[in-house]
Amino acid sequence: AIERTLSIIKPDATKRNLTGKIVAKFEDAGLRVVASKRIHLSLAQAGAFYAEHAARGFYGELCEFMASEPVVVQVLQGEGAIAKNRDVMGATNPANAADGTIRKEFALSVGENSVHGSDSEASAAREIAFFFSGLELVG
Ligand code: CMP
Repeated sequence: AIERTLSIIKPDATKRNLTGKIVAKFEDAGLRVVASKRIHLSLAQAGAFYAEHAARGFYGELCEFMASEPVVVQVLQGEGAIAKNRDVMGATNPANAADGTIRKEFALSVGENSVHGSDSEASAAREIAFFFSGLELVG
């Protein structure tokens, strides 16, 4: 089925001017960017987005990192977009990521791992609505 998923190009990647190279990976995989904006999250916004991880030891560090520099939030659309995006991203920890994936090529560590992608249909719906209104999604 044609799906939509939420992608975030994280601070470590925007800081190193990797936005275009990462978007090229999405497009080469057949994912279409149907919404996109560059924003600088506040600590509170980062905390709300990652609320499901609030009990984890890395939550504070994760939120501070996500609020440290601008991010690029995008909605990617395509056949099986949620799983496809996760394939293109590679494993969360770049040490475990397959060759050719974004995290293998660009990520610095499990925290500074260059991209976020929704992990399920329910997450995609929540995460897209967190950043975008329906009018901003142009398929
Ligand atoms: P993401 O897909 O954005 O979802 C939650 C994030 O938490 C994950 O990517 C990682 O970047 C981050 N994360 C997971 N484990 C750790 C860790 N041990 N230390 C710091 N950050 C982590």
